[in-house]
Amino acid sequence: MADAQPFSFEGLFSAHAPITTRGGNRNAKYDFAVAYPDPETLPLDGLLESLKVALDREGKNLAYYPVAEGLPSLRQFVAEKLERDRNMKVSVDDVILTSGSGEGIAMIIHALTDPGDVILTEEFVYLGTLRQMRLWGGDVRSVKCDDQGMIPESLEETIKQAQNEGKKVKYIYTIPTFQNPLGWTMSLERRKKALDIARSYGIPILEDDCYVDLRFEGEDVTSFRSMDDTGQVLYVGSFSKIVAPGMRLGYMVAPEEVRKRAMSFKGGGGVNQFAALAVEEYLRNHMYEHINEHNDALRVKRDAMLAALGENFGGAAKWVKPEGGLYVWVEFPEGTDLAKLQDQAFDEGVGYYNGSMFSPEGKGANCVRLCFGHPNAQTNYEGVAELARIFERHGVLQV
Ligand SMILES: Cc1ncc(COP(=O)(O)O)c(C=O)c1O
Repeated sequence: MADAQPFSFEGLFSAHAPITTRGGNRNAKYDFAVAYPDPETLPLDGLLESLKVALDREGKNLAYYPVAEGLPSLRQFVAEKLERDRNMKVSVDDVILTSGSGEGIAMIIHALTDPGDVILTEEFVYLGTLRQMRLWGGDVRSVKCDDQGMIPESLEETIKQAQNEGKKVKYIYTIPTFQNPLGWTMSLERRKKALDIARSYGIPILEDDCYVDLRFEGEDVTSFRSMDDTGQVLYVGSFSKIVAPGMRLGYMVAPEEVRKRAMSFKGGGGVNQFAALAVEEYLRNHMYEHINEHNDALRVKRDAMLAALGENFGGAAKWVKPEGGLYVWVEFPEGTDLAKLQDQAFDEGVGYYNGSMFSPEGKGANCVRLCFGHPNAQTNYEGVAELARIFERHGVLQV
């Protein structure tokens, strides 16, 4: 046989298959770019014990393929949790387990988006969602926000603008609680107004509530989904933030007609039953205790970061104090180019993501998202001071 040439797939790829541009696993000394939890806070012993208990009880079921919608008892647990914590009336059938909430978001986006469809998001938005919307050809447009959330006038104006162009807004995606990357929580009044507007124009809302359990200050705000009993609000949540992202478990809540379509984009059968068993057993016994401990640690980390921001950037930048979640959004004067400096800052020891990465329109190079959850408090404190030194060295900051 003649020597075989390397096979090339050139010319065979589907139009929906762009080359992935995700970076590798590089870490800066002070890494505020990544939104991972602190490995020290993972409940590894508890998960191991729970896994043993669950496997002794029902491990033999692993001989069968799981239900496509996911382990029924964990779905039941989700329904109960949402009723207890979020006042949502949800039945076990309404819940589908997904490989992280990211998969649920992707499934819904695939089910609802045709190329050219107008989709509205907050002014800056989670990268994974933005990537999926673009993958399916969505025309993603942002709604202006302040520290109370989406500004209703801007929401309505953006809808009307699309209508004037002869287009209909397909859906609105929002992360109302501890928004990624902006950090704030949308006020109840704003939620009500946004829902009213969405209703009057017949536009569904996709509510991404994946950070809601990470509240370490203030009062919970009613979810969009609990204010809606018409099926207009789709909802996703995650176990990544309260157990571990590596478990890859999340969920969606949607009416049957949406679930049926979305399920056609769920590959690989149901979610990993081994992980689902461990997570369910663990959370049934330890959920609130673990969340409280985790949130106490996050509060200290946030405070360290805010203290350092005040000491190093006071007067030179603006930020909002988040009551939970993982992010502080820092805004420098218009014209400051923190996109250009991002790689250099990383090489000099501090990782951050600049605002333009999260913007549907590519604006916001004068802003940075800093994640305070992964490093310890001391590292947060030192790292922000180091960031200020880097900004000074490169002439970004005059102090
Ligand atoms: C707003 C938001 N939604 C969804 C996700 C997806 O997370 P996961 O798939 O791990 O649940 C993330 C991840 O950081 C996020 O920030």
